[in-house]
Amino acid sequence: MESFPKPIYVTQPLLPDIDELKGLLGKIWDSKQISNNGSMAQTLEKELSSFLKAEYLSLFVNGTIALEIACKVLRLSGEVITTPFTFAATCHALALNNIKPVFCDIEEDTFNINPECIEPLITQNTTAIMPVHVFGNPCRVYDIKKIADKYGLKIIYDAAHAFGVKYLGKPISSFGDISMFSFHATKVYNTIEGGALTFNNPYYKERADLLKNFGIRDDNVNEPGTNGKLNEVQAAVGILLLEKVEGEIKRRQELTKLYRHFLKDIPGIKLMNEVEGADYNYPYFVIRVQKDEYGLSRDELFERLKQYNIFAKKYFYPLCSNFSCYRDIKSASKENLPIAQTIADTVLALPLYGALSDIDVEKICSIISAISIISRGKSI
Ligand SMILES: Cc1ncc(COP(=O)(O)O)c(C=O)c1O
Repeated sequence: MESFPKPIYVTQPLLPDIDELKGLLGKIWDSKQISNNGSMAQTLEKELSSFLKAEYLSLFVNGTIALEIACKVLRLSGEVITTPFTFAATCHALALNNIKPVFCDIEEDTFNINPECIEPLITQNTTAIMPVHVFGNPCRVYDIKKIADKYGLKIIYDAAHAFGVKYLGKPISSFGDISMFSFHATKVYNTIEGGALTFNNPYYKERADLLKNFGIRDDNVNEPGTNGKLNEVQAAVGILLLEKVEGEIKRRQELTKLYRHFLKDIPGIKLMNEVEGADYNYPYFVIRVQKDEYGLSRDELFERLKQYNIFAKKYFYPLCSNFSCYRDIKSASKENLPIAQTIADTVLALPLYGALSDIDVEKICSIISAISIISRGKSI
């Protein structure tokens, strides 16, 4: 098989039309207000609330700061139960608030936190659960709520991947006390960098708005905040991309179907499940590689794909619980996290973005098949 003439990366950002962006930039320049909740940010906040069907929403400069502020809004302390199969930001948001992340194992079919493993981890210091809707697949939200209600715990969903997802007809933002969405360039919807919190309570929005602006109110600060504001240029990009995001998701859905079709019969390539009842947003296309059947390990396939100019991503790898800053926490032990460890060692995200062509996907799949056949010593 011939390699791609140009590198194919795991993602490519959705970009607004440059002339439309110039139009909005002109308005920003005329207004001379480039940050501090200007008219673009106000417009985007309204439009996003409506798009995500979230009554209370606050924009942020990025998802990580949003998550840190979410912990402060709920005045969390002590320990919070979360998943090790996530991006570093989830655990860091806790650690930077002096909260101990407690790692809970995940489910093999969805890669999400396993509600059955949560209860044994609860102590008198536990104040909340912070699950992640991994790769846009909704968590078992009703089971998690039952546990939270039983022990009086708060729930913050890291919904960084779950923009526009619905579960059983309800917007994903309607579950938990707070949800965080990331609008990083690598996400289905972006504002270059950016994020938002959605809330089930107007008081939480009030606190988030205060804390993302240093905590300043009426020439005074009662509680120290940070600078988490989304600026006007980010907001302008967000306004324009809101018109494009549904088309992007639809195109990714088509490409996902193609991937599934071309990969389904390759031995040792396992495809990720989509949760039943979810309106999915196709943020990533993730496979698992089983060496005994495929002939190569995930790491070997990852390296071989590079020779064909295909840059997949080991996502998420390593587990957060294996970072040296967290590995001494008791719950970070391998015995506590057997499923998460297996998933992290075998998972691989393949290129997926709207601008990818059908032919590109077919070729990536043919290369994955050919690599396996060659490695098992057969000729093609
Ligand atoms: C699961 C998860 N949580 C949090 C973040 C942090 O978001 P941001 O990059 O917007 O700070 C990301 C990704 O970037 C993520 O994938």
